[in-house]
This record gives sequence, C-alpha cells and structure tokens, in this order.
Amino acid sequence: MLDTLRKVDERTLEEIGEEKRVRRTHEVFLLFSLGSQFDHLIKQEMEKLGIFCLVADPHRVTAEDVRKVNPVGLVLSGGPASVHSEPPSFDGAIFDLGIPVLGICLGFQLWAGHIGAPVIAAEKREFGVHNLTVLDASSSLFSGCDSEMTVLESHGDRVEADGKLRVLGKTDNAPVAAAQHGHLYGVQFHPEVTETVCGPRMFENFCFTICGAKDRYPAREVALHKIESLRKQIGDKKVLLALSGGSDSSTVAYLLKHALEEKKGQVRAIYIQGIDRPDDEAYVQEYFGHEEWIELKIVDATDGFLAALQGKFTMAEKRVAMRGVYKECLEREAGLFGASFIVQGTLYTDVSESGGGYNTGARKAQIKLHHNVNLGFSFEELTPLVDCVKDSGRNIGRSIGVPEDLLIRHPFPGPGLVVRIEGEVDAPKLAIARRLDGIYIEELRAWGFYDKVWQAGAVVTRSVTTCTKGDDAATGLIVSLWAVWSVNGFTAQAAELPYDFLKHVAMRMTNEIREVGAVVYRLSGKPPSTIEMG
Ligand code: XMP
Repeated sequence: MLDTLRKVDERTLEEIGEEKRVRRTHEVFLLFSLGSQFDHLIKQEMEKLGIFCLVADPHRVTAEDVRKVNPVGLVLSGGPASVHSEPPSFDGAIFDLGIPVLGICLGFQLWAGHIGAPVIAAEKREFGVHNLTVLDASSSLFSGCDSEMTVLESHGDRVEADGKLRVLGKTDNAPVAAAQHGHLYGVQFHPEVTETVCGPRMFENFCFTICGAKDRYPAREVALHKIESLRKQIGDKKVLLALSGGSDSSTVAYLLKHALEEKKGQVRAIYIQGIDRPDDEAYVQEYFGHEEWIELKIVDATDGFLAALQGKFTMAEKRVAMRGVYKECLEREAGLFGASFIVQGTLYTDVSESGGGYNTGARKAQIKLHHNVNLGFSFEELTPLVDCVKDSGRNIGRSIGVPEDLLIRHPFPGPGLVVRIEGEVDAPKLAIARRLDGIYIEELRAWGFYDKVWQAGAVVTRSVTTCTKGDDAATGLIVSLWAVWSVNGFTAQAAELPYDFLKHVAMRMTNEIREVGAVVYRLSGKPPSTIEMG
C-alpha cells in the first residue's frame, strides 16, 4: 500500500500521512493529470470542497495500484494529446474497477473509447465559452444546475452518441457534451474554470452525491503554514527578493516579513529597471522604500536587456534573452548581499504554462516560457506561492495585511514590455510601449474601468498603416489594445469596454504618439488566445 501511494503522489509518504492525519480522513480521490493546463485548478476546486486529492501518474499507476489505494472517486483531466494520433498511456482496466470516474475532455474521450463509443475528430473545433443545454435534468451530475448554462470548451476531438451512452447535455458543436455510462461520467467542457458557471456545483455533485464522499476538511490557514515553513527554511540566513510592485511579489515580501519577524538586514528586495512599465517603480518605492524590515535596491538593467534583445524577433527567443539578463542580475545581487536564497513570486500558472507542473509523465504543452520558472539559479530558490493561482495568492496576501492597493493592481508580465512589442525590441519601441501603457492605464482609471477589468495591455504590433497626419502622407504603427475579465488568469474573456472609451483612448494614442497610426481592440478570450499577445 505504501509503495503504491509513492507511485501515485510525488510527496513523501510522511507528508501524505501527515496530511491524512491532519484531515482525519481515509477518503482519497485520485486525479489523473493527462497534461491539462488546468489540472491544478481541478485539484483546487476539489480542495475548496474539503476533498483530499492525490495527483496520479497515468503512465505508471495501474488498475491494481488503484484497487489497493481504494479511492472514493477518480477524475481524469484534459490534455493536449488526442486519443487517435497520440493516445495517452493509461491502464484502461482502471475504468472497469467500478469506482466512479469523472472524465474531463480528453479524460472523457479516453473512457468513451474504452467502452467502444466512437470518438472522432470534430469538423468544427470548439474553443471558448459556449452554451450547454442539459438534456437529462434527472442526472445527479447536474443537480442544482440551470438547464442552460455557459461552459468553457477547448477541444478538437469529440465523442459521438451511440447506444452505450446516456447523453446528459449538448452544445452547438458537441452533441455529446456530457454523458454517463454506469459509474463513468464525462464532460467535454471544463467544469474547473470559472467560465463554467455551475462547475463548482458539478464537483460537489460528483464528489458527494455520485461518489458518496463524507469528509469535508475546512480550508487550512494556508498563509500561517507558509510563514512557518519559510521561518524554518531561512533561519538566520539572508534572502534576496525579486520585487516588481505587483500582488504576488508583494505578498511574498509580507510572508517574509512575518516569517523573519521584521528582523533588520535579512531581506533585500531588488527592483529591476529596463523593461518595466511607467508606474511600477513608484508603487515599490511607496510601499517598500521606507520600511525597516526590507531594504530596497533599484537596479538599472536597461543596457543589458537591450543588448540581449538585439536581433531577437520571435516572442520565444525574446523571452529566453530576457530571462538570461534577469537571472544574471538576481544572481549578482544575491552574491553582493551575501544571500543564501533567491525568492520569487512564481505562481502555479507560470509553471504550468512553461510546460511544468505535476510530473505525471503526460505530455504537457509549453504555452510560453515564463521569466521566473526553471532559471537554474546557483542559489537555493524559494517560491512560496508556487501552489497558488492569482486569486488564491491574493487571498493569502489579504489575510496577512498586504495593502489592498498592491493586491488589486492588475497583474503584469515579468518580461514586462518585451511581450508587448512584436518583432525586435529597441529603445524607441520600448519608449512607445511605455507611453501607450501610461495612457491606457491612466484612462482606465479616469473612466472608472481599472477595477472592473482584470488586466489590460497595449501591444506595439509589427503591422503598419498608411496614414495622413497634418495633410502629409506617412506610415504609422498599429497598436493592439486588449482588456480581459478573469479570476485566476487560467482563462479569460475579452472585456466589453464601451466604444466611447476605446475611441477616446485611440484618439489620445494617435495624437500624442507620433509613431502610432491606428489602434485596434482584441475580441478573443483565453483560450484560444493567451492574455498577453507575446
Ligand atoms: P498569459 O499571457 O500566459 O498570462 O495568458 C497569464 C498571466 O501571466 C502573465 N504573464 C507572465 N507573468 N512571467 C510572469 O510573471 C511571465 O513570463 C509572464 N507571461 C505572462 C500575464 O500578464 C497574465 O497576467
């Protein structure tokens, strides 16, 4: 049994044992991660319900292992693979154990294929928010849900109806958007993301009604637990913190403040100039520049960034170049300070999009390489928020006194303006991107929209438009504006900003910045787009 647990979860047996003891439960759910970008959100949704969930490796865990662990229920995530072209390795006999299964997207297609239901490449792929019609309101899965609801889908293959399946719901392009076959339940959409409005209700129904789970563990005092482990890890040593003025690194600063009991001289924070936006430094100065427990140092890395970015045209190569300078800067400063640790505000979202996350062996796509993941520092690294997403990180900050002004700031990318410029980055384009951001954020605040959108940005595209400014012919850059509504950054919808507002912002940008010829607004959500264009 112990060896089996070791196979299904990367943590040590002591850690799993401790968690079971603290939770006073023997009920375990297994989440088979098939490489979904959202696997951690599934775990979080279940944990919010007080469920004890272990992440299992679909490559290694067999039906015999599952039988021994005797979980109350199984969840299979989605993933980038297709059951046709690159079927994920999974012991199909697991489906025959009689343990309730919730298959999500690829997880659904996997059990459908196992029982012989047709899974085909859909003619129309579905990405984004769609309308689900519940066809079988008596199903426990949809108990308490509306009969029509929005769901988020992101799939190329789909399951076809046949006699074996009890079809529970449909969307425009997926006639079998939800189905049941005995103890096997499947949904083609993603109940773990906020766009699927009844998602939490479906997890509740699956875990407690369908699987019959009984134990609910109340949410732990996560922040205190993190503070305690930082205190143990750091002791009397010194730490260097990468501080950007956003909510994640500010929350980490406060975790350190509590962990080290505001002892002077132990924490130095570095704010790196060069590819930053116009107002970030002011926030860092205001909230951390005059504190006794943290020493703020501003480092100008403009020349280093520009040199590294010269001749780099794709976003991927620019991200790599930016990371190199960032890493070098932090290592140098850590050495100068005599630090034993480099601390960053890395979130699970950053790790997951960079192709990391649960090491289950399933292929996981690298959406984009984030600046703060796998840098291979020669110093020990601490990332206390790495199991959080944006909203859970903010909640931790809130519970330990991080000023609300910092917490509610829009997220912004570590690679700064680099991902807001298409093509080669040079000093003039950086200056344009900085002015664009200044105008956009200033106007969002002035019109009262800043707090209503989750994040907004202005991109200097590579496209140009012919323009006529002052009766003369010219060529001007096309700027692409975007703004999104989101909860945790995993998914997002284009914010419906009023036309008058957009027209006003466009007018200011074309009037005040000589090089700008036209302004457009992006309407796509995530997926299929990501929030940043780069
Ligand atoms: P995407 O664009 O991937 O972004 O949908 C999700 C959130 O992460 C931010 N972002 C980054 N944050 N390092 C970061 O710390 C990065 O390399 C990075 N790239 C994107 C993005 O602004 C959004 O809030």
